[in-house]
Amino acid sequence: MDEWSHLNEASKSRWEDNAGFWDDYMGDKSNRWHRELIRPATERLLNVQEGHIVLDIACGNGNFSRRLVELGANVVAFDYSPTMIERARQRSQAYADRIEYKVVDATNRDDLDGVKAEGPFDSAVSNMALMDIADIAPLAQSLGDCLKPDGVFVFSIPHPCFQPPGTRKAYETEDRDGALLSRSVIHISQYTTPGSYESIGIKGQPVPHYMFHRPLTAYIALFCSHGLVLDGMEEPTFRKEESGGGKFEWDEIPPVIVLRFKKA
Ligand SMILES: C[S@@+](CC[C@H](N)C(=O)[O-])C[C@H]1O[C@@H](n2cnc3c(N)ncnc32)[C@H](O)[C@@H]1O
Repeated sequence: MDEWSHLNEASKSRWEDNAGFWDDYMGDKSNRWHRELIRPATERLLNVQEGHIVLDIACGNGNFSRRLVELGANVVAFDYSPTMIERARQRSQAYADRIEYKVVDATNRDDLDGVKAEGPFDSAVSNMALMDIADIAPLAQSLGDCLKPDGVFVFSIPHPCFQPPGTRKAYETEDRDGALLSRSVIHISQYTTPGSYESIGIKGQPVPHYMFHRPLTAYIALFCSHGLVLDGMEEPTFRKEESGGGKFEWDEIPPVIVLRFKKA
């Protein structure tokens, strides 16, 4: 199955249009989602050791690549947006001898062969990106060859169960039995059926980007069919506000999921 390969060029062009805005917004430290949810869970599951060689897939502006160096790794990082990679290089001058940035399309088997030649890798990571990649089958196939024996692949995505296309979020209050109750709720109507859709990740981004919804089964079945086994998972949420917040919060329903696959 080619998934949504026919949308790959359009998808790349949208990311290229958004790259400067995205990098300006994320800056050196990235946003609260990364700092409070994605990074801590990813770092626990990756368990980077001094001297590890790590592959950062769809690295964006390199915010996590730099963090990997701080954890002791040497990094090969790629993204298919040349502007994103240019921005990543600019932000990583102090890390130049520890990070090699490449413009690589994760849907392109020849590109991936070039990455494989840089390995083998102790681990690979992809933060909040697989749902932006139009066809992840070539990547799944290549990862088995890129990783060392016992190597791991850790990735985070918006939780497909709780953020499928068309998710509606609401904050409800209820006057019940003498108490005012409040809760954050989501309404969803699609999960099982894969689908492409356009999305605004950051308010104000120049153009919507494409996203590709896959149920969890699709991810797990794909990676397991290429010699990887699921052996770790986290579903982080934001800390509950003492005050009750007064608006929708992802403090009970996990907005992201982080999965670890190990080379079997
Ligand atoms: C939401 S951003 C995440 C970036 C970064 N990993 C982070 O956490 O900040 C998704 C990234 O995926 C990249 N991307 C999407 N499809 C890709 C592909 N086929 N090959 C390489 N990169 C891709 C985009 O250019 C974008 O930088």
